[in-house]
Amino acid sequence: MPIVIITGGSRGIGAATALACARRGMGVLITFNANQDAAETVVKTICQQGGQAAAVKLDVADSASFPAFRDEVARRLEAVWNTDRFDALVNNAGFGQFNPIVSVTEDDFDALYRVHLKGPFFLTQTLLPLMADGGHVVNISSATTRVATSGVAPYAAFKGGLEVLTRYMAKEFGDRRIRANSIAPGAIRTDLGGGLNDEFETLLAGQTALGRIGEPDDVGAMIANLLGEDSRWINAQTIEVSGGYMI
Ligand SMILES: NC(=O)c1ccc[n+]([C@@H]2O[C@H](COP(=O)([O-])OP(=O)(O)OC[C@H]3O[C@@H](n4cnc5c(N)ncnc54)[C@H](OP(=O)(O)O)[C@@H]3O)[C@@H](O)[C@H]2O)c1
Repeated sequence: MPIVIITGGSRGIGAATALACARRGMGVLITFNANQDAAETVVKTICQQGGQAAAVKLDVADSASFPAFRDEVARRLEAVWNTDRFDALVNNAGFGQFNPIVSVTEDDFDALYRVHLKGPFFLTQTLLPLMADGGHVVNISSATTRVATSGVAPYAAFKGGLEVLTRYMAKEFGDRRIRANSIAPGAIRTDLGGGLNDEFETLLAGQTALGRIGEPDDVGAMIANLLGEDSRWINAQTIEVSGGYMI
């Protein structure tokens, strides 16, 4: 059974990705930060549907905790799946913050940097020894790297950095046949940045060719497909999953 680790799997896109991967027969290890109960609900749902899943706490902003997290991952791989390897890492955990550049503080900037760029970099580095050859890293970016619309400059800049990092991962991990790709969602109905009100949703739906905002499973199902064997030749790409946002 291929095993995928999904950061921020307690809610939103990460939870939908976990469920979609489990439906396709993958074992799923999700992480949570503040919402253990939500993560346990995702695990329970997967297990009730006949799948295998586990949840481990991880603060992606705290890179000093990554070696201990890797050791806990190794313990769970052994206990739940009787293996010492996993197959895919989805760097999904994130948060949103809406502020024009003139009012962004250094603390805001550093917090976004730690979660959206530094965290994925060092978490991938830390977990790489446990990843099977032929594995896959998926980094969750954002359509905000392509269109400057909503007052999320540092967030979008770090997501842009993550897309560049993805190409370097693909290049440097290729000798182990490990793929790396970025997924750039458009507007998706989650709690990110405090969620959407009706007015904002109407605006975003109007900017989307398919006339609605996305649901978490619109992205989760796509990521699960990307992890599958039929997508084996897709590498070093950023793929927008947005229903056609601002085209
Ligand atoms: N929603 C959108 O429109 C959209 C668009 C483009 C890109 N994205 C990206 O998609 C990813 C998922 O976002 P979402 O919309 O699904 O958001 P969400 O519903 O708010 O879920 C965020 C997830 O990230 C986890 N998380 C937050 N901060 C963390 C930290 N410091 N350490 C570890 N985990 C942390 C949360 O864990 P807890 O629940 O345990 O706190 C939760 O599982 C993010 O990278 C986001 O930037 C979202």
